[in-house]
Amino acid sequence: MQLRQLSQLVEYVGVDYAAAVNQGKIINNDEYQEMQGFSELIVNKISMLKVANQPLLLTQAQHLKQAVKEKAPLTDIRQFASTLRSTLVSLMPTIVFPQRLLSEDDTQALFQTNCADCHGATGEGNGILAKQLNPKPTNFTDKNRALNRSLLGLFDAISNGLDNTAMPAFTQLKEQQRWSLAFYVGSLAFKNNQKTKSDINVNAYPNMADWVHYNPSQIAKESTHLTLQQIELLRAQPLSLFSQQPKPITIAQNQLHNAINAYKKNNYAEASTLAVSAYLDGFELVEKSLDARDSQLRKSIEVNLIGLRQFIGHSGNDAQLFELTEKVFIQLNQAEQLLTKGSLSNTALFSASLVILLREGA
Ligand code: HEC
Repeated sequence: MQLRQLSQLVEYVGVDYAAAVNQGKIINNDEYQEMQGFSELIVNKISMLKVANQPLLLTQAQHLKQAVKEKAPLTDIRQFASTLRSTLVSLMPTIVFPQRLLSEDDTQALFQTNCADCHGATGEGNGILAKQLNPKPTNFTDKNRALNRSLLGLFDAISNGLDNTAMPAFTQLKEQQRWSLAFYVGSLAFKNNQKTKSDINVNAYPNMADWVHYNPSQIAKESTHLTLQQIELLRAQPLSLFSQQPKPITIAQNQLHNAINAYKKNNYAEASTLAVSAYLDGFELVEKSLDARDSQLRKSIEVNLIGLRQFIGHSGNDAQLFELTEKVFIQLNQAEQLLTKGSLSNTALFSASLVILLREGA
C-alpha cells in the first residue's frame, strides 16, 4: 500500500505542477508550497522504505525534489516524476483486475448516483455542490490532466478518497464498480474523438498491467507500437479492451499466480489443480504457434511447468518452487512478446511484481 500511495503522490506532482510554476516563475504560491511539500514527503518516505531498489528510488526522488525547488520546466518535472513512478510501479505486487467491466449504461448510472453532485453530470467538475468546495471537484474532460493520470491513480482516488478534500472513499462500492468508474472517468477527456475502434489493430492492444499502471503520456513514450492517437482511442472506449477473451498466456500467468497463493496457504491440492490449469487452459493453447517461432523456448517452458507441478503439490519446496515460478513468468512474458508484437518496452512488470509477491509472503 505504501508503494501505491507514494506513486499516487508522485503522479500528483507531475499533474499539478502545471498550476504552480510557469516559465520559472511561481504562478500560484499555495500550489507551489504543496509541490515542495509533496516532493519532500516523497523523499522522506522513500528514505524509510526497505526495498531492494531503495538507493535508486532515493536518487530519483531527490532529482524530483531538486527540480521543484529550482522551479524547473514542467517537461523536466514530468520526466523525473514518470521515471520515479516507473521504478515504484515495478516494485508493486501484482494487481488483480476484474475480468470484465460493467456495461457503459450501468457505469453511467453509478456515476450519476454517486458522483454527479460534485463532478457534474458530464464529469466537467461543475455539479451542484461544486461551488461550495475547495479544492473543486476534478474536471474529467480536462485532457491535459487526463494525459498525466494513470487508471490506477484514478482507481485509488475512488477507493481511498483524497485527504483534505471533499472526495470521499467509496468503500461501499464493489471493486468491479470502482474499476468501471475509473475506466469511465478516465475516458471522458477522450470521448469526442471521431475515429472508431476498428481503426486499431488488435495486435496493438496493450498489456493490461501496463495500461493500468502508466498514464497515457508515458505509454505513448514507452510503447513501440501504440501511437498517442491510438492510446486516446482506447482510453475513450475502455470496454473494447475487455470484450476480447483473455489471452492464453495471461490465463497461464493468472493461474500460476493463483496456484502460488494456494501453495502459500498450504492448500497443496488446489495449488496442483491450478498449476495444471495454467498449462491446459493457458499455455497449451499457444504451444503450436510458439513452437513455430521459438521451439527452444516452447520446450523449456513446458519442462519448467512440469517441474513446477512436482514442487507445488506438497510443502517444503519454497526455494525451488519460487525460483522456478519466477523463471516461468519471465519466459511467458518472452513468449507473449513473440506471439504479439511485444508489449511496452523493457517493463518486465509482471515478473518484477511477482518476485515481490513471492518474497513478501515467503
Ligand atoms: C462530495 C463531492 C464529491 C463526490 C460525491 C465525488 N467526488 Fe471525486 N473528487 C471530489 C473533489 C473535490 C476532488 C478533487 C480533489 C483535488 O483536487 O485534489 C475529487 C477528485 C476525484 C478524483 C481524482 C481525479 C484526479 O485526476 O486527480 C477521482 C478519480 C474522482 N474524484 C472520482 C469520483 C467518482 C468516480 C465519484 C463517484 C463514485 C466521485 N469522485 C464522487 C469531490 C467529490
